Amino acid sequence: MVSELKLSFSKVEKIADGIAVIFTNIDLAVSPETEAALPGIGSLVKRAASADNFKGKALTSLDILAPLGLTADRVIVISLGKAEDSARTDWVKAGGNVIGKLPASAKSATVVLDLPDAAITADQVADFTLGARLRAYKFERYKTRKQDDAASKVLELTIASSVDGAAKKAGKSREAIADGVRLARDLVNEPPNVLYPEAFAKRATELEELGVEIEILDVKAMKKLGMGALLGVGQGSEHDSRLVVMRWNGAKNREAKPVAFIGKGVTFDTGGISIKPASGMEDMKGDMGGAACVVGLMHALAARKAKANVIGAIGIVENMPDGKAQRPGDIVTSMSGQTIEIINTDAEGRLVLADVLWYIQDKYKPQFMVDLATLTGAIMVALGQEYAGLFSNNDELAGRLFVAGQTTGERVWRMPLGPEYDKLIDSKFADVKNTGGRNGGSITAAQFLQRFVNETPWAHLDIAGTAMGSPASDVNRSWGSGWGVRLLDRLVAEHYEG
Ligand code: BES
Ligand code: MN
Ligand code: ZN
Repeated sequence: MVSELKLSFSKVEKIADGIAVIFTNIDLAVSPETEAALPGIGSLVKRAASADNFKGKALTSLDILAPLGLTADRVIVISLGKAEDSARTDWVKAGGNVIGKLPASAKSATVVLDLPDAAITADQVADFTLGARLRAYKFERYKTRKQDDAASKVLELTIASSVDGAAKKAGKSREAIADGVRLARDLVNEPPNVLYPEAFAKRATELEELGVEIEILDVKAMKKLGMGALLGVGQGSEHDSRLVVMRWNGAKNREAKPVAFIGKGVTFDTGGISIKPASGMEDMKGDMGGAACVVGLMHALAARKAKANVIGAIGIVENMPDGKAQRPGDIVTSMSGQTIEIINTDAEGRLVLADVLWYIQDKYKPQFMVDLATLTGAIMVALGQEYAGLFSNNDELAGRLFVAGQTTGERVWRMPLGPEYDKLIDSKFADVKNTGGRNGGSITAAQFLQRFVNETPWAHLDIAGTAMGSPASDVNRSWGSGWGVRLLDRLVAEHYEG
């Protein structure tokens, strides 16, 4: 596949050469505009379909090579199925799907977004471009040898439709979102020797170019605030911890209370003194997927100039075993004043979030806050990699997240909280302990976080299963998925504009 996608929008015009992508339906019909762009294509599709036993089921495709009588070299025909299936088409997925169908060597292609059964809208065309941009993402920064000699470096993709002007405009916000997702993926994919806490904080400051205000708290500043929970996690590392607060003030009323997003940013999680087994430990470079999502989200919101007041905060630490590292049995004092007994140094994410949640809630009094964290392996046992775990003290916020998940495809499934679970983390020696035993591991982790949340509507997303190593999809082939950027961009859009 390509490494760079160059998109342009045009009217549907006659296609002189190269690759064309067109759409058909269950009856193998094409629109009159498609026929005008490729005269003779209608009958060719029918002939090729019968030669290849192509039945036009939704999202199946037919590849016509060197079509006789046409100047185009190749026509990829995608069926949207029956009219009712066609109306339900997920255009983001379709965009990704089409990129996947193009040969790696393609340097240019034209997609004729004109449908046999309905008129396409500018939003649908824009969604298509979002999917295409997401699918085209590759992380090859550390490959010094060329991967595939035949693969083209740049793919020029022309999106031809009757709504080209409006689609170009709507496409701008999708480009902002795609760039946010791609940034989040980059951060997750980066190796942990490159992306340590100070380096991560520096990457976040690049958002200043988009008008995001950045504040970085170093160890000294966090000590002064009493963030003993976060600092305890990082104390065994050669790299100092950081807390980065990003602020985008785009709402009409710039003084209005913001909404807040908080990310776990463990740049590498060895487990600390409670060290993890060697097998698969390299994956723990992705233990900052929550923080990566928050940075990607802030990028998306600022780049599309969202009319919203948003705080993004990330606690960035490295969890290492060392002579100076925190021990099981240690008792630390969090910024909230609550004391925490460390039972397992590998349950570090909740310690980081405890202080960041408290700080953001206390300082900014947000309308609501959502944290994202690769918090527990147990969430994968419960939900696999299809849904992130959702925990919340607020039914309305939980409901909105659920709906945003269904519409973007970044789905969440609600899990319980409750006083019975809370009892499991009472400590013999301190106010709370950082693990609650084997059962309900994701729930006791969330319950721990809730002890650092007051009345603020809050939701916690456990993204250990979705942030990295997810199954290949139409819109993602990268190890780091950038999960959550699209979900939360939608949540913000609905909250302020919906
Ligand atoms: N970062 C891990 C959770 C994780 C595991 C994320 C696998 C992604 C993939 C977290 O810090 C952790 O180690 N959690 C422990 C908690 C336990 C010690 C209570 C876990 O899930 O085993
Ligand atoms: Mn851990
Ligand atoms: Zn972790």
